[in-house]
Amino acid sequence: MAFERVGVVGLGTMGAGIAEVFARAGLRVIGVEADAEALARGRGHLERSTGRAVERGRLSEAEREVILRRVTLTTSRDDLSDADLVVEAIPEILDVKVSLFADLDRICKPETVLATNTSSLSVTAVAAATGRPGRVVGMHFFNPAPVMRLVEVVGTVVTEPGVVDEIAGLARRLGKTPVVVGDRAGFVANRLLLPYLNHAAVLLENGVAARDDIEAAMTLGAGLPMGPFALLDLIGLDTAYEVMCVLFDETRDRRHAPAPLLRELVTAGLLGRKSGRGFHGER
Ligand code: CAA
Repeated sequence: MAFERVGVVGLGTMGAGIAEVFARAGLRVIGVEADAEALARGRGHLERSTGRAVERGRLSEAEREVILRRVTLTTSRDDLSDADLVVEAIPEILDVKVSLFADLDRICKPETVLATNTSSLSVTAVAAATGRPGRVVGMHFFNPAPVMRLVEVVGTVVTEPGVVDEIAGLARRLGKTPVVVGDRAGFVANRLLLPYLNHAAVLLENGVAARDDIEAAMTLGAGLPMGPFALLDLIGLDTAYEVMCVLFDETRDRRHAPAPLLRELVTAGLLGRKSGRGFHGER
């Protein structure tokens, strides 16, 4: 299938970034949010991100305008009826995703591929909510989506192999490198990355080292672009916590138990960059 019209449902940090990636690659994008306020926030993400690219001389103002014109924003899911692909990037609540996929299945044409950007939830569970489980995949981008070059393409036991190949091909067209992974909690990247980040929080709360010393150990000692707490703040502490809960549920491995400090910060509403405060910032 030639993917030309792509829907993105949910225009938070990830959804807006994904919409930008598609628009930059020349696809027409229909961005859907629940209400006018959320839609305005989504538009703000897109304008800021492309505006920064202009400031840095990576895009001309004219190119930016072309990219933004490729994106239509709407609060009506029905506008997705003739999309070739819809990528869901709403919060990580399985029931809400399941009901969205049932809706998308009703709205979209039968050949439309439905994809979830979930970080850890079961792609099989959302596929089973549709009458087209063979055309449902995971298409997992990384934060910040316009920068990170990986896309995990998640196939389930019922995904048609051709659909996995088509989505991997699309990821390449976006300038990303696809890896094909199975439907297991955390897939590959988060399965390895999140336990490390969680463990950093455990070291901090056990007083093994101070926050900035742990950051320095991993940036200067392990050569990572960001320390674990800066990265947790970027990912969102709520998302990181949810991924750990799913990993722990699936594996029952106590090394995957979410760090109590992580849970405490999430409960307090300190979610990282998206709320202005997390491990970094005044508390
Ligand atoms: N949106 C768009 N572009 C962005 C951006 C954003 N949010 N943040 C940075 N950029 C761009 C900048 O514009 C810049 O582009 P140019 O080179 O074209 O000018 C480039 O990225 C580098 O940015 P900076 O110079 O400001 O900063 P940096 O060199 O420190 O890089 C970073 C920033 C790319 C975020 C880098 O620190 C990094 O790679 N960090 C690790 C990120 C990571 O591990 N992400 C995965 C998280 S896990 C996940 O997402 C999975 C999940 O499901 C939870």
